[in-house]
Amino acid sequence: MRILSGIQPSGALHIGNYFGMMKPSIELQDQGEAFYFIADLHALTTVQDAKALRSYIEDVAIDFLACGLDPKKACFFRQSLVPAVTELSWILSTLAPMGLLERCHSYKDKMARGLGASHGLFAYPVLMAADILIYDSDVVPVGRDQKQHIEVTRDLAIKFNETYGATLKLPEPRIQETTAVIPGLDGEKMSKSYGNTIGMFEEEKAMRKKIMGIKTDSTPVEAPKPVENSVILDWYKLVASPSDYETMVNDFLNGGVGYGDFKKRLFEGVWNYFAPMRERRAELVADKTYVEGVLRDGLEKARGISDGVMSRVRTAVGL
Ligand code: ADP
Ligand code: TRP
Repeated sequence: MRILSGIQPSGALHIGNYFGMMKPSIELQDQGEAFYFIADLHALTTVQDAKALRSYIEDVAIDFLACGLDPKKACFFRQSLVPAVTELSWILSTLAPMGLLERCHSYKDKMARGLGASHGLFAYPVLMAADILIYDSDVVPVGRDQKQHIEVTRDLAIKFNETYGATLKLPEPRIQETTAVIPGLDGEKMSKSYGNTIGMFEEEKAMRKKIMGIKTDSTPVEAPKPVENSVILDWYKLVASPSDYETMVNDFLNGGVGYGDFKKRLFEGVWNYFAPMRERRAELVADKTYVEGVLRDGLEKARGISDGVMSRVRTAVGL
C-alpha cells in the first residue's frame, strides 16, 4: 500500500493540523510505503513573500520530523522539486471540466468572501490531483476539509483512463472520523485563516493566555456545566489520558469546579502532550544539515517513482 499526503507551508502548524493530518499520517508510516511532502507550490496561492515562504518551508520540515515522521520509513520531500508534478498537472487540466473546479470549496469560499481568486487557486485541486496520481498513491490521509479534493482527483483519474486507456491509479481518502475536524478557540473549525488556532510549538506564555481566554458560558462554579460542544473537553480528550478525561467530564457533570480550573488542566495537558516533540524540535533546529539531508534523500526516491508514472502518461497521451 502506498500512502501519500502533503501539507502547505503557509504558517505555523496548529493542533488541528497535527491531529487531523500529521498524527494519522505518522501512524500510517508503519503500514505501507509512505510519501509525505511539503506543498510549497500550493502555498504560493496565499504566501507571496519569498522570505516568509522559505522560513515556513523550513519550519514545516522541522515540525513534521519533530512530530515523529521517520525518514527511514517515510519518504519526505518538497513538492516543487519534482518537475513531473507540474507537467502532469497541465495534462490533467486539459481534461478537467470547468464546472467541477467551480464547485470546489477552496475557490468558492474565496469568491464568497469577495477576495480576488487567482487562476492558481482555481486550479489548486488539479495540482493536488497531480501530487497524488504521480506516485500511484493508494491512500491519502487528510482532514475532512480535503475530502472534496480527493474526489476531484478520482474524477480526473477516471476521465484520463477513459480518454487514454488505463494509466492512473485511483486513490482513496483516509479520514480519521474522531479527529476529522478539530475546533478552534472560537468553536469553529481551527484554521490558520480564521486566527483561532493553538500552535503546536507556541511559546508557553502565549499558549497559556490563549487557553485561559477561551470563551465560556456564565454557569456558576457550583453548578453542572454543559458537556456538549465544549472546546475545553474536545481538546482535553485529544491530549489527556482516558482517566483524566473521564475525571474532567465528571467534574463538568457534577458541578463544583469552575471553568478557570478546567482551562488550567487543559493548558497542562496540551503543554505536556507536545513536550517530547518540543525537545526533538530543538535538536532539529540545531541540526539543519540533517534536515536538508532527509529532504534530499526523500526527493531522490520520490523522483524515481514520479519519472516512471510520467513516462507512462506521456506515452498514453502521445507526447
Ligand atoms: P489550515 O486550514 O489551517 O490552513 P491546511 O489547509 O493547511 O490548514 O491543512 C493541512 C492539513 O491539516 C489538511 O490535511 C487538513 O485537512 C488538516 N486540518 C487543518 N485544519 C484542521 C482541523 N481543524 N481539523 C482537522 N484537520 C485539519
Ligand atoms: N491541499 C492540502 C492542504 O491544504 C495540501 C496538499 C497538497 C495535499 N497536495 C496534496 C494533501 C496531496 C494530500 C495530498 O492541506
